[in-house]
Order: sequence, then C-alpha cells, then structure tokens
Amino acid sequence: MRYGIIGAMDEEIALYLEAMQQATTTVKAGVAYYSGKMEGKEVVLCKSGVGKVNAAVTTQILLDQFQVERVIFTGVAGAVHPELNIGDIVVSTDCLQHDIDVTPLGFAPGQIPFTEQWTWQADQELMQQAIEAGKGLEAGVQVVSGRILSGDQFVASREKVQWLYEQFQAHCTEMEGAAVGQVCAMNGVPFVVVRSMSDKADGSAHVNFVEFTKLASQRSYAIVRNMLLSD
Ligand code: ADE
Repeated sequence: MRYGIIGAMDEEIALYLEAMQQATTTVKAGVAYYSGKMEGKEVVLCKSGVGKVNAAVTTQILLDQFQVERVIFTGVAGAVHPELNIGDIVVSTDCLQHDIDVTPLGFAPGQIPFTEQWTWQADQELMQQAIEAGKGLEAGVQVVSGRILSGDQFVASREKVQWLYEQFQAHCTEMEGAAVGQVCAMNGVPFVVVRSMSDKADGSAHVNFVEFTKLASQRSYAIVRNMLLSD
C-alpha cells in the first residue's frame, strides 16, 4: 500500500523528511516529490504550497505519476468549533470549500454549481486509523473527528469564524483539504485530512499561527506516524 502524504508548508513536512529513509526526489510542475519509506511503509511526500490550486495539482500528480493508493493531508488549521483549543487535533469526516459562493444564482454557500455533491467524505478506515493513532498523544490533547473547511483565505476574525461555525457546523478551517478531498473523490482514491490547531481563526490568529505552527505540526506528524506504524 503506497501512501501519498501532503503538507502545505515546510514546517508541516519537515519531520517526515527527516524520518524518510533514502528518499529519491522527483520534481514535477515545480514541486519536489520524495519517494521512500517511513515506518516500513512506502510513502511519497510532497509540499504542495498553500491554497486549493496547489493542493489539487499536487494530489492529481501523486495519483497519476506516483500511483499512491491512499492520501493523507497533514498540517495545521484554525479552530472553528468553540470547544477546540490550540494543539487539539481534528480528523476529517468530510471537507468542503467554504469560499465558493454562487448564492446570487440561488446555490447554497459552499455549493459547486450544477452538482449535488460539494462535500467530500473521508475514508472510514483511514479516519478510524487516525483516531486510534491519536490515543497515543499526551493527555489533555483532544482528538476529534469533524468537518474541515477549506478556502483561499486565512481566517482571522471572530465574526467570520462564527459565521463558518453556524453556516457549516465545521470543526476547523484551512486552505487545502477540500481540494485534496475532491481530487481523491474524482479518482476514487481514499483520503483523510489530519489537522492540529495552530490558532482559533479569530483576531489573534495571525499571532498564534506564528507561535504555534511548529508544535501543531509536531502533533499532526505524531498521529500520521502512529497511523503508519499501526498499518
Ligand atoms: N491554517 C492555520 N490557521 C488558519 C486560519 N486561521 N485560516 C486558514 N488557514 C489556516
């Protein structure tokens, strides 16, 4: 079973790169893909860059050129659910794009026009694996499953994050997961998104993000590593 693992930023993939033995590097469309082994499993790792377009392109390349059979997105997010704290983990049940807005034509917020499907279900088995893997984390860290939102926006206001919660009943918001989920669904490949909270997507988000991204990335890594170990 070959895993594709994607992070958006250097901090989010740094620990994986260290852990991968004898990775070979292939560059496609300006992105480096590292093929190797992690915890005895075949892995292709890449840094997509930030945003949905980068995430979509790298996911399709992972599927077409590297024949990965499962995709895990790993990294940080802004908490949307009021009971989540910085450092907590969200495992995706489903992902959707919060910033697609064709409401003037009568479509629902987040709806991709002319289609009935605009939320992408994560794979049950991968979700279960991630939740189980989360039991190995230190006490006090919440590991929950829930809806993950993606948009080409860094959310940093109380009004916006409240709207996202009320509108979509989401747990967290980030900038890539729904693109990965959609591309995986279009190709029939299982995926899951594992995010640790770097901030609360509120007025302090820009400060918290800088302070906590490293810690949050370590937590997402710890879960994915445990997932590979348990497989
Ligand atoms: N990634 C981490 N925090 C985020 C936020 N507040 N908005 C969007 N993406 C994020």
